[in-house]
Amino acid sequence: MYRTRVGTITLLVGLALALVSLATRLSALRVPGNHQGYSPTQPIAYSHRLHAGELGIDCRYCHVGAEQSPHAGIPPAGICMNCHTSVSAPRADVLAEAKKAEAANRKPELVVSPEIRKIYRALGLNDKRERDPKLERDPIAWMQVHKVPDFVRFDHRSHITASVACQDCHGPVETMERMRQHSTLLMGSCVDCHRKKKATLDCGACHQ
Ligand code: HEC
Ligand code: HEC
Ligand code: HEC
Ligand code: HEC
Ligand code: HEC
Repeated sequence: MYRTRVGTITLLVGLALALVSLATRLSALRVPGNHQGYSPTQPIAYSHRLHAGELGIDCRYCHVGAEQSPHAGIPPAGICMNCHTSVSAPRADVLAEAKKAEAANRKPELVVSPEIRKIYRALGLNDKRERDPKLERDPIAWMQVHKVPDFVRFDHRSHITASVACQDCHGPVETMERMRQHSTLLMGSCVDCHRKKKATLDCGACHQ
């Protein structure tokens, strides 16, 4: 009698715990939605159309992680400085100032655009690209655009190695003035391509 009761209680407690854990799992699964088209304002008006399109810079020059790690990575301001040490403003603005200076018979002034200035400030540099102790280094707080829920396992490396193009998932990035989410990133978008390319359809491959 006593023994059965303990048995029943254990069973009930076990059942309750199982239900709670199932509920937590389900609510964890429910959080995400469809963020297709999401395009938050970024702290610097960085343009993929200009850099990846017009200037033709390779995606992996900036997103170095894509080939070797799960995350493609966002470039640190130091990578921008490979060019923006010398490019402090759009060429047209620099030329306009040179013309004005020539007409006025003076030396051209240094032209620093407000957007490029933000890169310098992020590194604690003044307009002449000198370290200024009064300026605090303040990393650029880029807004994250793409995100799959935590219960999903996604790795850039295996896709890049299998020659899947960035554009197959991210769309025509080289035409985007401002980054936006092109695909739904919902399960169907993964599974559709996996079916076509005969990649894994195993639930456990994509879900932890
Ligand atoms: C000169 C550096 C540079 C190059 C080249 C570049 N990117 Fe980016 N990329 C960035 C920066 C900076 C951000 C963060 C700001 C933003 O979202 O626009 C970013 C953001 C992204 C994001 C969104 C990240 C997120 O938060 O979800 C994707 C996707 C992306 N890039 C793909 C590409 C692809 C594809 C290419 C090549 C066609 C490319 N990028 C070329 C610098 C670069
Ligand atoms: C390979 C060289 C190169 C790299 C790397 C590069 N840029 Fe540029 N960027 C340029 C050039 C060249 C221009 C100017 C084009 C023009 O003359 O209008 C420019 C223009 C810009 C502009 C427009 C400036 C304005 O005032 O309109 C912004 C903003 C900018 N870059 C941000 C960035 C950021 C942020 C990074 C790093 C994530 C970066 N760039 C990396 C070459 C580069
Ligand atoms: C098979 C689809 C797919 C391909 C191909 C792909 N991405 Fe992504 N990318 C994603 C997904 C999904 C996320 C969101 C990942 C997350 O939440 O962890 C993402 C996120 C990103 C991010 C922001 C977060 C991070 O990983 O650092 C960047 C930047 C990015 N991708 C760039 C690229 C570039 C550049 C390429 C090509 C070299 C590329 N992606 C190829 C699907 C893809
Ligand atoms: C445009 C096509 C395409 C899309 C979209 C795509 N994949 Fe894949 N994926 C592939 C290919 C091709 C492989 C096979 C790689 C291999 O066999 O080496 C693969 C392999 C994988 C693997 C197994 C290798 C590993 O990294 O462990 C996982 C997991 C995976 N993809 C997850 C996802 C998820 C999650 C999404 C959606 C967010 C997604 N994929 C979207 C093409 C795609
Ligand atoms: C190729 C990768 C991939 C495979 C294979 C896969 N899933 Fe998913 N699944 C995802 C992604 C990405 C999400 C998150 C986006 C979403 O909610 O659609 C997801 C979400 C889910 C969700 C939550 C849906 C919601 O509305 O919140 C459930 C449940 C699920 N998957 C079950 C499964 C089962 C069961 C299988 C095996 C039959 C499976 N998945 C196979 C990628 C995959």
